[in-house]
Amino acid sequence: MRLGRSKNSHGLVGLDIGSSSLKAVELKGKGGEYELANIALGPLNPNAVVDGAIVDAGSVAATIEKLYAENKLETANIATSVSGDSVIVKRIRVTAADEEELAMAVQQEALPHIRFDPAEATMTYYVLGPLPGGDALDVLLLAVKREKIESATGVLARASKVPMVVDIDAFAVQNAFEHSYEPPQDQVAALVNIGASMMNVHVTRGGLPLATRDVPVGGNHYTDILRQGLGLSFEEAEKVKVGMENPQVQPEAELTYLRSVSEHVVTEVRKSFEAYRQTSPDPIQVIYVSGGSARIPELPEMLSATFGIPVEVLDPFRKIHCDPAKFDPEYIASLSPRMTVAVGLALRSFDPS
Ligand SMILES: Nc1ncnc2c1ncn2[C@@H]1O[C@H](COP(=O)(O)OP(=O)(O)OP(=O)(O)O)[C@@H](O)[C@H]1O
Ligand SMILES: [Mg+2]
Repeated sequence: MRLGRSKNSHGLVGLDIGSSSLKAVELKGKGGEYELANIALGPLNPNAVVDGAIVDAGSVAATIEKLYAENKLETANIATSVSGDSVIVKRIRVTAADEEELAMAVQQEALPHIRFDPAEATMTYYVLGPLPGGDALDVLLLAVKREKIESATGVLARASKVPMVVDIDAFAVQNAFEHSYEPPQDQVAALVNIGASMMNVHVTRGGLPLATRDVPVGGNHYTDILRQGLGLSFEEAEKVKVGMENPQVQPEAELTYLRSVSEHVVTEVRKSFEAYRQTSPDPIQVIYVSGGSARIPELPEMLSATFGIPVEVLDPFRKIHCDPAKFDPEYIASLSPRMTVAVGLALRSFDPS
């Protein structure tokens, strides 16, 4: 599932423009067997991308070019994705006799869900199936502020790259998840992607997206509370958070601060699950956590204890061959949950066109 795609998108770099960093993945292979061809991560200036919005396009474009040069990336064609409050994913009920009526009905039903001027939205929809007991259809509506897509494609053009696919972060996560885990058709899974400033909570079953919610909470909140609570700079707090020792910091004090933010994260996940429950009675059976903040100590355990279901840290490289002669296995393992969106995007290279 994707928002836009040009013909012949084969040979793509999956480029995830996050608020903390750029992540790029290129794959090669055929017949469903994939191999890692290239992987790169480049930090962004803190004010270049804020809460998922590209604020300083020049700085992001320069970082893309630097990332390409330093990592010998050559493929200019790119699959990227967007997320945040200008992305709307909603399931709606629609009654229609034919395609034309369906398109009109979706437009009508969509209006109350779009929080920005509908004239500025790029909209698409997918029929998930008929609803029981009547002739209404279960439809997934997708609306993105056009400006958001233009901002992503604009920055790529500025870096002399060619945007071929513009996806949604949560759908890219779903793509990587399906490739890695080949989940059973009837399994309801929640994919919780926690980056630096944003969390995407996405419920999926049998390859279909069932509910998606983006929440402005992430790793920066953990860093901020350590900074304030322990009297550190942002950089020092960031180092402590990712596990570097600091003689001034008591590990127990650090954990207490981290837990308090995790409680907030858990509350937001619960709200997302409740929103999903309004649309479906089928319980969520498992949670996969991805994004850099999947590594926050005890977060998977807290989610598992709260919801009483298994929680796994998503490994997007589970079914991708990474030649140990080219890529240090420890480096790949350390990055793995953070590269989920980029892997999901890179897999678009192999979509049938
Ligand atoms: N080992 C670790 N333990 C805890 N947090 C970590 C670790 N490694 C990275 N992080 C945090 O993960 C975040 C970056 O994750 P990611 O790259 O997924 O975010 P992003 O895509 O840049 O941001 P967003 O999607 O929110 O715009 C940062 O807040 C970083 O501090
Ligand atoms: Mg991200």
